[in-house]
This record gives sequence, C-alpha cells and structure tokens, in this order.
Amino acid sequence: MLPMTETIQPHGGTLINRIVEGAEREHLLELAKTLYTLKISAWAISDLDLIGVGAFSPLTGFLGEEDYQSVVERMRLADGTVWSIPVTLPVEAHIGKGLSIGQQIALVGEADDVIYGILDVQSVYSVNHKHEAVRVFKTDDSDHPGVQKLFSLPTTNVGGSLQVVNRPKAEKFKQFYFDPSETRRLFVEKGWKTVVGFQTRNPVHRAHEYIQKTAMEIVDGLFLNPLVGETKSDDISADVRMNSYLVLLENYYPKDRVSLGVFPAAMRYAGPREAIFHAMVRKNYGCTHFIVGRDHAGVGDYYGTYEAQEIFSNFTKDELGITPLFFEHSFFCKKCGNMASSKTCPHDASEHLHLSGTKVRALLRDGQCPPIEFTRPEVAQVLIEGMKEPECKV
Ligand code: ADX
Repeated sequence: MLPMTETIQPHGGTLINRIVEGAEREHLLELAKTLYTLKISAWAISDLDLIGVGAFSPLTGFLGEEDYQSVVERMRLADGTVWSIPVTLPVEAHIGKGLSIGQQIALVGEADDVIYGILDVQSVYSVNHKHEAVRVFKTDDSDHPGVQKLFSLPTTNVGGSLQVVNRPKAEKFKQFYFDPSETRRLFVEKGWKTVVGFQTRNPVHRAHEYIQKTAMEIVDGLFLNPLVGETKSDDISADVRMNSYLVLLENYYPKDRVSLGVFPAAMRYAGPREAIFHAMVRKNYGCTHFIVGRDHAGVGDYYGTYEAQEIFSNFTKDELGITPLFFEHSFFCKKCGNMASSKTCPHDASEHLHLSGTKVRALLRDGQCPPIEFTRPEVAQVLIEGMKEPECKV
C-alpha cells in the first residue's frame, strides 16, 4: 500500500533527495573550498537542482558512461529503467583529462560563484554529439535548437552522484515553485487520487484548455506545470506566460480542481523522447496521468504530429507507471460552434480555425487580440501588454 503522502510511486520507486542541510551542509561547504572547482552553466544548475529534489528520480547525479550509452541507444538507464533524455555534465577535454575517478569536485555557478554542489566523479568519457543528436533528436541538423545547443557543448562528460548544498533562487513567482515532495503532499491534502499533469512552454490557448478540461472530466485534479527554464529566444518569456496562466485560471477554471506550479527545467525540443521524459518527471511530482497532444515538445517540422504519442508503445504500462492521455490535434470548428478534433467533428477543414504561432505573435505585436475562438481575451490582453515590455520576447 502507498504511504499517506503518495498518490503514485516515484519513477524507480524512491523519491531521490540529494539536498544536504544543517551541519552536513556546513561541512560540505568547508570541504568545497579545498576541492577542484568546476564552473557550471545556468542549464547545469537547473539540472542539478532537479536531480537534488528528486524531479529526475531515479537519477542521483549526472549520467556516467554506461547509463549515458544505454539512454542514447535504448531509452533506458543501464539497469533497464525507462529514461529517454541524457542528463549530462559536459566539461572541456583538458578539464576531463585532469579528473580522476573517486575525486570530489565542487560545482560552482559560472555567473554567481555560488557553490551549488559536490560531485563524486564516477565516470569521465567522450561522446559523439552527431550520434547523440541523431538518436535523441532524430536529426543532426544544426538549425534544430536542441541539436544546436548540444553541438555548442564540449564532447567530454563527467558523471557521478551529487550532493546539493545551495539551490538556485527564483526571482519571481516564488509561490509557484514546489518540489516533488511538496506537490505530492499538496495533492494528498486536496484529496486528489488522480492528477493529470500538463506540460507547456506556451500561453494556454483554447486548444490547450480544451484538452486539459477534457482530461479533467476523468481525473480529480489538474497540475498545470509550465516549463520555465531555458527556452529558445522566440518562445514567449516565462514571466509573461505566468501572468497569462493566472488570469486564465482566475476566470475559467474551478479553483479547487487546479494547481499551478512551475517546472524549472530547460526545454530540449526533443519531441517524442522529451514526451517520455516529461511524463516520468511529472510522475515524480505525483501526477497519475499526463497529457500528450499534437507534436509534444516538437519544433519546426522535425517530428510527425503524433510521434510523441507513438513512442509510448515502446514501454509497458508498468514500466511507465504514469498513464499518458493522448489528444488529437484540437481546433475550434465554426460549424460545430465549439472546440473539437477529427475524433468529434465531421466538418470540412475549411470550417476549422487554425492559427500558426507566427501569425498569433504578429497579431499580438500589432496590439490586436486573436479571435476568442483561439485565445481567451483576458489571456490575449496579458500577452499584448507583455509585448510592450522590452525584455519580453513574444
Ligand atoms: S510543448 O513544447 O510544451 O509540448 P505546447 O506548450 O504548445 O508545447 O504544448 C503543450 C501540450 O499541449 C503538449 O502536450 C502538446 O502536444 C499539446 N497541444 C498543443 N497544441 C495542441 C492542439 N492544437 N491540439 C492538441 N494538443 C495540443
């Protein structure tokens, strides 16, 4: 039987906690001063923190060579546990050469000099980024934002388990940062036995709302879990999006059946593989169900519309643990007079309202509201206002 605080078992069976506190933390901070210091990026700090709090359970650190190879080749850790995205710590080759197995190193933020963690070096290995790109992103086209990012990194990785001594601080929307242990408790307190997780890197438009609410008909609660880590520069900024979620929830969702919490991870744009990764992580946050719609985590034309759904058939129900809820491409049908998909609407495509992201951005930039069949007016207003602020890119 599950303990009181659990709605669903974490991935791998145990919610990892690598955050060190109290006297042990003080000791590690002292120790860190004597260790080799490796400067790490904001992306690595975000991965470190998500490992630390167990969002990436069962990972206890950055992937070593055996797990890395296994993840790249067969979407599993070396022990067979489903894991689709390499979570790695790249270092310059000359730094890798200087490290030895068993050594402890201090991981320090390159921008702020904060000691974030101590890594027990268990593996130092070279990788072939072209091969990784083709396996993980299904392309080695450097126009793909995930591939571009990968190719910009050094080809030596250092793997090993982590102890986290400091956590990145949220600057805004602090009240929406929850660790998996907290969301798990929250869901139990709310009495939710079934919770559907929703990943997004966009404002919630009517199609998103439609699939969320359709899912809400069969579960107890919705965990709206927007990704707020690094995204490509033309995605809408997290601050603007957060304001758009708040106004949407305030006006159109039942308060007792929705919880908003951010997912402070970087976007990989790995389409199908990222859908698996997103689902496993949401399981760790305590979700029992996870929405996968059209071209989940996709970009451009790199993935087929439903590839991110099809990939789930590589794994058994038990291996996944969380139940994916698949949705067809949804739209507003003028003839039906409501939101629909090809599963529910018999009308010709000419009756369907389709707006590309580019077209919507152009409308907003002009200060024009997209049609209410596409976006709630309150949301459009927030987006239009957001565009006026120079730091907000829409
Ligand atoms: S994502 O990169 O985070 O997946 P986005 O925020 O656009 O991008 O999508 C969030 C979720 O909604 C994903 O599961 C995606 O597949 C789904 N989705 C987005 N638009 C539609 C649509 N028109 N019909 C069905 N599902 C959609």
